[in-house]
Amino acid sequence: MASNFNWITPVYDTLARAVFGQSLNRAQSVFLDRIPAGASVLIVGGGTGWLLEPLLRGGRTSHILYLETSARMLARASQRVLDRQLLGVVAFQLGDERTLPTGMNVDVVITPFVLDMFTAQSLRTQMIPLLRQALKPGGQWIITDFVVGAGKWQKRLIQLMIWFFRLTASIETRQLVDWQSLMAETGLRLQERQPQVGGMVSAEIWVDPLVS
Ligand SMILES: C[S@@+](CC[C@H](N)C(=O)[O-])C[C@H]1O[C@@H](n2cnc3c(N)ncnc32)[C@H](O)[C@@H]1O
Repeated sequence: MASNFNWITPVYDTLARAVFGQSLNRAQSVFLDRIPAGASVLIVGGGTGWLLEPLLRGGRTSHILYLETSARMLARASQRVLDRQLLGVVAFQLGDERTLPTGMNVDVVITPFVLDMFTAQSLRTQMIPLLRQALKPGGQWIITDFVVGAGKWQKRLIQLMIWFFRLTASIETRQLVDWQSLMAETGLRLQERQPQVGGMVSAEIWVDPLVS
């Protein structure tokens, strides 16, 4: 069954801030300045749209496709663009990676705290290959997410969050998957990774190796 964040949407940002302060947003910002000027960007699972603010204010993107499976998250994200009077071209699409237009070719894919919701099987056979396909030769994939290999209490917190989101949003996985190893199987090259939030999160930029 696909996850459903509609119910939790109104309190999602407040909960995230209560547990992590601004550190999750900071972690998502680490590699935004690597986005080339005029880039086309695909944001997958951006939630209430916080990430649109630095991206549109930075003025580096030509257009953004904002892909979300939660209608309420999507509505909040588009309302945010209006409320903050952000300028730029953004298409809001309700759906998951299977609904992406065929032949899509973006410069940058961004997955902020999304890979952590899936089983290894789903990541390997659906999410990662479909997003890889949407990336232009030479493109970049910016990932921010919780990682396996964190310290003891951090592992417990991650497991608690997984159970919380299984209950409230029906996420698929029962445990955090080693998505970093799965990314290494894609043929993309890890350009840089920076540990965040005391090592329980990693901000990473993966590039298509056609560009060195
Ligand atoms: C854990 S939340 C993270 C939200 C946001 N990136 C943040 O950091 O605040 C995951 C988001 O991904 C969305 N989502 C889940 N599966 C998805 C999929 N296959 N494609 C697109 N969005 C998805 C959910 O609706 C939810 O808004």
